[in-house]
Amino acid sequence: MNQDHDIANPGLADAGRHRIEWAAQEMPVLALISERFASERPLAGKRLAACLHVTAETANLMRALKAGGADVWLCASNPLSTQDDVAAALVEHYDVPVYAVRGEDNDTYYRHIRAVLDKAPHMTMDDGADLVSTLHRERKDLIPGIIGGTEETTTGVIRLRAMAEQGVLQYPVVAVNDARTKYMFDNRYGTGQSTIDGLIRATNILLAGRTFVVAGYGWCGRGIAMRARGMGSDVVVTEVDPMRALEAVMDGFRVMPMLEAAAIGDIFVTATGDKHVLDRKHFERMKNGAVMANSGHFNVELNVPALREMAVSVTKVRSEVEQFELPDGRKLALLGEGRLINLAAAEGHPASVMDMSFANQALSAEYMVKEAANLERCVYTIPAETDLEIARLKLHAMGVACDDLTTEQQHYLSSWESGT
Ligand code: ADE
Repeated sequence: MNQDHDIANPGLADAGRHRIEWAAQEMPVLALISERFASERPLAGKRLAACLHVTAETANLMRALKAGGADVWLCASNPLSTQDDVAAALVEHYDVPVYAVRGEDNDTYYRHIRAVLDKAPHMTMDDGADLVSTLHRERKDLIPGIIGGTEETTTGVIRLRAMAEQGVLQYPVVAVNDARTKYMFDNRYGTGQSTIDGLIRATNILLAGRTFVVAGYGWCGRGIAMRARGMGSDVVVTEVDPMRALEAVMDGFRVMPMLEAAAIGDIFVTATGDKHVLDRKHFERMKNGAVMANSGHFNVELNVPALREMAVSVTKVRSEVEQFELPDGRKLALLGEGRLINLAAAEGHPASVMDMSFANQALSAEYMVKEAANLERCVYTIPAETDLEIARLKLHAMGVACDDLTTEQQHYLSSWESGT
């Protein structure tokens, strides 16, 4: 066992191992990659620092990367998403040093990021770009040794593109999020299910018959709205993008400005990637008993400091529910401190969907090593053929076959002469 790590409780290791193995049964695509990695060792000799949610699914990705020959170090990509039993199992049973303790404060969070950077990685693997950002701000000395990185999430990709546009990004990064086998499934079905899961585990409230407001109609918001409707809620969508607002209307949802929605919603979930989507002016209008949660990457979507200022008292009524009493007697509930509810109050996306996301991560790491010499300091998407191959493998693992084009059809699609 590697001695250098920081976890909550090594005694949880056996429980963590069971959950990791349980998740592995739902990750057949990653398993195939892992088998190939074990024989080909494409990551041999590479040091990889990962800043990801420390979950059972992430543990299986760490195992795959190790099978490929990498030395890996893992820290949390959110202070409240770490599964302490998984962290323990990684350290005790899988020889992966982990720096993550569920509920760690901000200083500890960044101390852990610095700890993995101290290993002088050749590659970074991020979920939200805190690793890349800390490295560029504090550890520029490491840049000459870095081949490249990967990024898991929409918010992280937005930050990286901003860095690239400002000319400050110092090494190539693959935007795993932009693979179709990632965002169309993880963001939509993963976030859709796990957000509802977190909401229910935190509160045990009935969703049927409630007005459920979803802020943001990107892939995550679509998934949440779809699943909330499936539970019998009356779903309202708020958006700033007219195209997405139109899409939400045509998908059958009511669309209105948040200021209007604030007055009628029973449940609010933010998934926009932007800050203060729910702010003082919205809290002022909300109904007594309104429940608020965030499903976006960072805890900025709800203006929690303003809510604290407005409250005459705050009571923790369940493990992930704080009730804010306002001067006029209304009580508003905040779930999971405004951090991503699916990981704060539940277990994140199910393994079956993380299978594809993490297949993309593993193959992106391999791509990075192979293509290092040819890549510039910018943000890349995974090759389309790799993306398709992941879809093929997933379908195959699910026992589903699809058709192939006939030669005649292929020819028709590449010709332009024949009309009606
Ligand atoms: N992001 C959302 N769900 C996740 C999971 N189960 N593991 C790692 N990252 C995640």
